[in-house]
Amino acid sequence: MKRIAIFASGSGSNAQRIMEHFKRNKEMEVALVLCNKPDAYVLQRADNFEVPTHVFNREELYHTNSIDNLMKNLEIDLIVLAGFMWLIPERIIQAYSKRIVNIHPALLPKFGGEGMYGKKVHEAVLESGDTETGISIHYVNELFDEGEIIYQSRCLIDSNDDAEKLAYKVHQLEHLHYPKIIEDLLKKLDKKVYPGTH
Ligand code: GRF
Repeated sequence: MKRIAIFASGSGSNAQRIMEHFKRNKEMEVALVLCNKPDAYVLQRADNFEVPTHVFNREELYHTNSIDNLMKNLEIDLIVLAGFMWLIPERIIQAYSKRIVNIHPALLPKFGGEGMYGKKVHEAVLESGDTETGISIHYVNELFDEGEIIYQSRCLIDSNDDAEKLAYKVHQLEHLHYPKIIEDLLKKLDKKVYPGTH
């Protein structure tokens, strides 16, 4: 069994699609949802799918190994960020090289970086005068939205689109593609070996 851990901070509509996608898969599963906000709706969504959850704060993520140990014990193969608002600590990036992915609601390398999230991204896209936008799925490194791009999908911007309409279109693209790209990546990944457990 290959196992996914999802990090999310908010509503979790992508997390929901991913949990739905893998629900009946016998070789891959969402084994854990990690969240830095105790009242985030993603936790409810995870409960609905009977996926274990773990809520943490900054101290735990950046200054202890408890999340590392949790993922080790669950034999997590791939970390999926789905609306997670904090940087992943360097030690986790090193331990999960090419095993952490994120989705961004624009065509990177444009419209990414610190502070570029939610509505702000779509407003910046509209202001730029670009005629298309889309999604970017990329590996995660120590910087916001800068890891190698794995996949992009595009949609046209209509003259009457506002930030809300763009957000809707882009979310639809995310829901359509993210689960399948995760599945393809997992198929190609060897089972992760955790030193000391085998
Ligand atoms: C998505 O638009 C994703 O691109 C970004 O955060 C948003 C999360 O949305 N990284 P949701 O919580 O999955 O609905």
